Formats: sequence, C-alpha cells, structure tokens
Amino acid sequence: MKRIRLGVNIDHVATVRNARGETYPSPLRAALIAEKNGADSVTIHLREDRRHINEQDLKKIKKKLKIPLNLEIAATKEMLGISIRSNPLFICIVPEKRKEITTEGGLNLNHNKNFLRILINKLKQNKSRISLFIEPSLKDLIQAKKLNADCVEIHTGKLCNLINKKRYYQNELRRIKNAVMKAKELGLEVHAGHGLTFSSARILSKITGIKEFNIGHFLIGESIFEGMPKIIRKFKKILKK
Ligand code: PXP
Repeated sequence: MKRIRLGVNIDHVATVRNARGETYPSPLRAALIAEKNGADSVTIHLREDRRHINEQDLKKIKKKLKIPLNLEIAATKEMLGISIRSNPLFICIVPEKRKEITTEGGLNLNHNKNFLRILINKLKQNKSRISLFIEPSLKDLIQAKKLNADCVEIHTGKLCNLINKKRYYQNELRRIKNAVMKAKELGLEVHAGHGLTFSSARILSKITGIKEFNIGHFLIGESIFEGMPKIIRKFKKILKK
C-alpha cells in the first residue's frame, strides 16, 4: 500500500503567538519539529490580513526548512508577487474572505478565470507545484484541469463536520470518492484538507488515490494536550529549587 503524505499546517502556532503580540510560540520551531518528526511538507497560509503567519515567518521558514514548503495564497496580485519572490516548492490557491474564521469553501473557478490562469502559469514558470483548493465537484475538477493546475486539494470541511456531529456522512463521502476518481481520470493529483481529525483522516485514508493530507487546527490542538504534562512537570521542577 502506498503511503499518504502528511502536510502539517502550522498557522495556529502563529495564532497563539499573535494573541499576545509575543515572539513565541515560534512557527519556525513548529515547522522544524514537523520536519524532524516525519512530516512530508509544512503548510502556511499567508492571509491578506496576516492574522497568523506573516512575511517574516515565511522568509525564516523558507530559509531553514528542508522538506517542501506549501504556501497557501489567495488569487491576488500581492500574493503573486510574494510567491514569485519566496518561490516555495508547493503553492495551494485558496479562496479568502476577510470576515471568515477559516477557509469556508472551495475556490470559485469561474470567478476571475483569466487572472487565475495567468497566476497559475506564472507560478508554474517559477517552478512551483500548483494546487487548487476546491469542493468535490466534477465541474470544478474539469475546470481545474483546463486552468493547468498540477493538483487539486479537496475541501473536506463538510465531511468532517458531519463526522464530528455523528451525522450521516455517506453522501458526502461518495461525492469525495467520485471526485477522486474523476481527478485521476483527468491526470490531476489529489490532496485533501480542512477540519481533519483522527477519525475523519482514518475514514478518508481508505479512499485510494488521495496522495496528500494537509492537517492543521486539530493537530495543533491535540499537540497542546500531548505536550502539557511534560511542560507542567518541567515548571514543577524549576519551582522546587
Ligand atoms: N488545506 C487548506 C487548503 C486550508 O486552507 C486549510 C486551512 O487553512 C487546511 C488544509 C487545514 O485545515 P485545518 O486547519 O482545519 O486542519
């Protein structure tokens, strides 16, 4: 069985840092821990409002990371410039709304189609692998192929939500399975991401053909609980002296 690659999204390390305007916890340190522990890539989303990762983080991580950096960007001229300059190995184009809490749905591939085409071609000429974050829709897959993308990342948010709420999720799972089959037929590499937990990752990993999972929020959240016992013990030791 072929191993599925894991991309670790470290945006929320920066969210915690920014909540206090401090220099820690450091996203670079998180990126290097991900690398050291077998992550296949590190994902960061440079948002227009810089609410988590900023350009300094991007520069530092790009400089030190040896595994591929996957930069998530909105389709804007500003992000095109930053992506050309920073030249990450992987780029995933995502939709972005200022007021959303997280990336709420897949890209609208019919909006600003000409700019999307230019953006993808320029980034590909710059030798980045281009992925489009889309809903599991057959129409969007055909459009992604026409736009010359290398990969698609299927938005798994809806499925994960149904699984978390213990609701019927088979229809959404079928939609994803059909999308994976169609993508393979079109020669697009398939990734999956958004809202993934241990249980949803387990369910989705059974679909053959998904090559890469990108996981952030749950992974960072669980890491707090796995790490807390050790840190509490360390403080207790310091305070005993
Ligand atoms: N993939 C893409 C394209 C995303 O935009 C995000 C969220 O930034 C993720 C994966 C990770 O989602 P989560 O943080 O819910 O695991």
